[in-house]
Amino acid sequence: MNVLLTGGTGYIGSHAAVCLLQAGHNIAIIDNLSNSQELVAGRIENITQKKAPLIVGDICDTNLLIQTIQEHRIDAIMHFAGLKAVGESNAIPISYYINNVQGTLSILNAMDQTGVSTMVFSSSATVYGEPQYLPIDEHHPTSATNPYGRSKLHIEEILSDVAKSDKKWSFICLRYFNPVGAHHSMQLGEQPNGVPNNLMPYIAQVAHGIRAQLSIFGNDYLTTDGTGVRDYIHVMDLAEGHLCALDYAHQHPGWHAINLGTGTGHSVLEMVTAFASASGMEIPYQFEPRRSGDVASCYAKTDKANKLLQWSAKRSLESMCTSTWAWQTGEFSQK
Ligand code: NAD
Ligand code: UFG
Repeated sequence: MNVLLTGGTGYIGSHAAVCLLQAGHNIAIIDNLSNSQELVAGRIENITQKKAPLIVGDICDTNLLIQTIQEHRIDAIMHFAGLKAVGESNAIPISYYINNVQGTLSILNAMDQTGVSTMVFSSSATVYGEPQYLPIDEHHPTSATNPYGRSKLHIEEILSDVAKSDKKWSFICLRYFNPVGAHHSMQLGEQPNGVPNNLMPYIAQVAHGIRAQLSIFGNDYLTTDGTGVRDYIHVMDLAEGHLCALDYAHQHPGWHAINLGTGTGHSVLEMVTAFASASGMEIPYQFEPRRSGDVASCYAKTDKANKLLQWSAKRSLESMCTSTWAWQTGEFSQK
């Protein structure tokens, strides 16, 4: 298939691009480079020895999307583009709704005008809000506590409405848990701007001596060791899940929400121990009060992905840590 990746030079999109090309698909990428670099497209080509054409532009530009879809004879869209920082979304909600919701409407408009009807969408476990039971399955009630999460929920609802309007539409909302890790080539990984918000890149920077110590937000949760528990999933497992979702979407029109996680939760302290062991470095830390908006535990029930997509996460916590460490200390993350 010919697949258009929005946000394809970003962290998750770039790994998915490699999987798609290696599986024999053709791709085109559209990205406004607001949180990524042009040279990522070249790295995707280095790894795969295949073409990864990058169109630098914004998903809100419907005409550019139409032109790109026609030029590259696109059959399906993988929609990664968007803003993703929870804290920032409280400060600049309008930008979040423009980039995430309006951007998706622009894509749908372009799809409608060009006859493309399949989309795999990057949703998030954040749509489950405060977990009411664990593990979280796809029937768990949805809610939002910040504009980022609400933008994902709005998009899911819009896609559901559009799917009901005509049987041709095929939308898969992949609800990611906590993606971590990097490509084994060390050419692709997560490159946070400034101080990382997320645990894994923060730990990696502490291990590398870039930051003095990790602040662990809360040690009084009702978890095994008092620290927060999450379902960390290797980004390559996540990327492979997109391939399976694309196949499924192609054969099963309609609207589907599917969790992508491992089904296993790990505490912050377990992550610190695993990373220290993988890197051979000490990770100094201190306990701090809980971070506002955090939940104690969040991990996925993965039966739906196992059954419908014939997919399950395979890579270990050790592999998540070693690949992150190799990326952190390698030459490519410095650029
Ligand atoms: P990322 O920031 O690395 O990648 C997003 C890409 O989209 C970037 O390259 C950015 O430049 C581009 N982009 C943003 N707005 C755009 C616009 N208006 N037009 C064109 N390009 C635009 O983020 P990521 O971690 O790869 O996340 C990809 C998707 O997955 C996002 O939608 C995010 O909300 C979702 N998600 C991420 C996580 C996570 O922890 N990383 C968890 C759940 C869901
Ligand atoms: N944590 C720390 N110190 C830090 C950073 C995080 O102790 O410096 C803790 C948090 O309190 C939490 C755990 O590490 O217990 C994981 O935190 P992350 O920020 O890495 O991840 P979250 O689960 O809070 O959120 C992430 C994304 C969201 C997404 C969600 C589910 O940031 O956008 O996963 O996919 F919605």
